[in-house]
Amino acid sequence: MLGDSYTILAIETSCDETGIAVLRRQGDSLTLLSHAVASQIAIHEKTGGVVPNVAAREHAKVITPLIEHVVAESKCSLKDMDAIAVTVGPGLIPALLVGVQAARTLAFSLNKPIIPIHHLEGHIYSALLGEAAENKWQIPTADDVFPALVLIVSGGHTMLVHVDGYMQYRLLGQTRDDAAGEAFDKVARLLDLPYPGGPEVSKLAEQGNPAAFAFPRPMEHSPDFDFSFSGLKTAVLYTLRDTPDANKADVAASFQAAVVDSLVVKTRKVLKEVPYKSLLVTGGVAANTSLRQAMQGVSDRYGVPLHVAPLWLCGDNAVMIAQAAAIIDTKKRTSTWQEVDGRARIALEEFSD
Ligand code: KG4
Ligand code: ZN
Repeated sequence: MLGDSYTILAIETSCDETGIAVLRRQGDSLTLLSHAVASQIAIHEKTGGVVPNVAAREHAKVITPLIEHVVAESKCSLKDMDAIAVTVGPGLIPALLVGVQAARTLAFSLNKPIIPIHHLEGHIYSALLGEAAENKWQIPTADDVFPALVLIVSGGHTMLVHVDGYMQYRLLGQTRDDAAGEAFDKVARLLDLPYPGGPEVSKLAEQGNPAAFAFPRPMEHSPDFDFSFSGLKTAVLYTLRDTPDANKADVAASFQAAVVDSLVVKTRKVLKEVPYKSLLVTGGVAANTSLRQAMQGVSDRYGVPLHVAPLWLCGDNAVMIAQAAAIIDTKKRTSTWQEVDGRARIALEEFSD
């Protein structure tokens, strides 16, 4: 069991970023001592996507020197770590296992506990805590921020989650096919833009007319809180096939507008039905300027304060894993090195209180 003040080493390897962070909690105050992300973009660019075994090999290559570097930067030593936090899923199993095994070995040799974290908990708490002033955050009082409605938009997930309190999650709706980020990446490929496509499509969209093409807003009128993006991607494919001289910036802008509208419609639908104290938007796609602006509009319209993940924490990183571990440890979720394991699919609800 950890006391009131402790230091966490966090590890994230669920996809194609190796993330390491060292964070200290003192009372309700969190201080980031150091962190780093080793991105594999240059490697996966060649295949236009992440090959799990290639990602795992790269994590295995960089993880030890990265831990050494981040711990040295934190001005601590490994012995000063009170717990090891690690993403145990969901994600690509070969990649996840590199981080989990590193955490197990450290926990075994240092005789310290492991705090297993669901990848999406990381995204949720990084939005809740927001931007860091001088690398410090204050953990909010639960009554001030919960219940919170969270829109998670990444390469692997698009979901609306009801968060009733720290470690209290309920899934309201999710995509039935492609994730929003996946749709951005696929459309980028159709537009001959490099991987990962989200930022490229969004850059191109800035020069285009979002009303140029009337792309569908799939499931706009469905009674649930689910999403669907594969039909939208197919609509872009047909448009490019049938209109070869279509202005690519117009296609990008119209596609982006359709994604943002779909996300806004379902978020508003939840807010119309349930009163929330905060609205959180997080995950890789939360870096999208047009989505951030649209969600500010939703927040203003419903009078629900908006917390968007800071740009530097939208993509995968270990800072968010450390933040989640530091926050939820108040509930004492610790394991031994023998107990933890990586899992490709784990529902967020399994990590609920
Ligand atoms: O959270 P994340 O780093 O990894 C997953 O957990 O999936 O999200 C990555 C996704 C990719 O699909 C990427 O294209 C997308 O986020 N993305 C964006 C933007 N920046 C990253 N999508 C739209 N606009 C952006 N500016
Ligand atoms: Zn992620």
